[in-house]
Formats: sequence, structure tokens, C-alpha cells
Amino acid sequence: MPLHVVDHPLLADILTRLRDRTTPSEEFRSLAYRISVLLVAEATADLPTAEVAVDTPMEPTVGRRLASRVVAVPVLRAGLGMLQAFLDLIPTAQVGYFGLERNELTAVARCYYEKVPADLHEAVVFLLDPMLATGGSAAMAVDGLRARGARGVRFVSIVAAPEGVARLADAAPDAEIYTAALDRGLDARKYILPGLGDFGDRLYGTI
Ligand code: PRP
Ligand code: URA
Repeated sequence: MPLHVVDHPLLADILTRLRDRTTPSEEFRSLAYRISVLLVAEATADLPTAEVAVDTPMEPTVGRRLASRVVAVPVLRAGLGMLQAFLDLIPTAQVGYFGLERNELTAVARCYYEKVPADLHEAVVFLLDPMLATGGSAAMAVDGLRARGARGVRFVSIVAAPEGVARLADAAPDAEIYTAALDRGLDARKYILPGLGDFGDRLYGTI
């Protein structure tokens, strides 16, 4: 399964600020937005385009417009921190939602909400979730997308653990992962090391 660890100085700078435990929520949100712009640009770099005629104020020319149906699916809550960046880049995208929550003791995810477009056969589908830890949430969400016909789901994360990458590769070998960092591993509570802590709590100030 393709794993793209995106390397860019702007992204490295933002990631380091996100990791910093002293970064307050309001700054964390803005950093999450900015890093998502960079990651989404990378994850969409090979989207198909079609030639179209366009008249500039000077003369007619030929340009290119996006030629595929794009669906973004943030995983609640933390994935919401990536959605606005996605929609600012692709305002025509459809949006679906999975509400998934890990049990604090077992780290096993349960689904409490889903609202996803029904037929994803022809769509390019982007799953947005900043943290890929055990991979349980990602595997559950990708399963739900595949059941609706999605193939080759692009999973856009900010920090991934090797355990999560392996789990997702097993569950969905045709998925692709885009991430800013492949971290060392997981602690006993299945949090990513060095990671950045609980993304949802830091994004929404619920620590
Ligand atoms: C976090 C994160 C992922 C999941 C990753 O969500 O946003 O969805 O954990 O962990 P996994 O790879 O081990 O499944 P969390 O369950 O904390 O919910 P929240 O976003 O609502 O805080
Ligand atoms: N979810 C988070 O928000 N952070 C982790 O490190 C693991 C799961």
C-alpha cells in the first residue's frame, strides 16, 4: 500500500508547533488548517483534469479543470480540523461524515454516526483523520466507504504510527496514506509516540 510521507519545510515547521504541548487551542486550530492545505495539495496532485477553452481578457486559450467527482469524509471529531482546508481547495467536493470514538480503556473504535453519499464507485474519496494510531478507526471508516463502492481511498493524516499503517494496509491494500510524519510507535494506552497527544482534545480545548 502506498505510503506518502510528505516532506516540506513549511509542513515540518507547522508539525513541530502542533507537537509542542504549550501550543494553545486557537493556534492549534490554525496550524491544523495550514498543514491540511499542504497535505491535501499533495494528496490531490494526480487528480484527473480535462482541457477547457477559456477567454482571458486578452485572448482565447486552453486551460484545465478538475474532471472527477471528489468526496471528502472527515472522521469526527478530529477530522473536522482538516475539512475547511479541503473545501477551500476543492469547494465542489461532496462531504460525508463518520463519527468514530475510541474506547478510553480498550482503544477500540465504535461508530456513533455516519452520513456518507451512497454511491462512491466513480468518486475519488479522501478520508480525513489527523491521527492513525492502531488503525482501528481508519479500517472501520475505509470498510464503510468500500461498502459504498469506494476504491483506492486516500487517507489523509497528520501523524501515523507504524501499527496503524500495517493495520490499514491489511484491511485495504488499495488505500493510499498521505501523512506529515511516520512516528516511532504507540504507548500502552495506544497513543502515538512522540505524537502530539489527543488531537480532538487539543483542537477543541476539552483536555
Ligand atoms: C482519534 C483520532 C482517530 C483515532 C485514531 O479519535 O482522531 O479517529 O483516535 O486512533 P486509532 O487509529 O487507534 O483508531 P478519538 O477516538 O480520540 O475521537 P475524537 O476525535 O472524537 O476525540
Ligand atoms: N488519537 C489521538 O488523538 N492521538 C493519539 O496519539 C492516538 C489516537
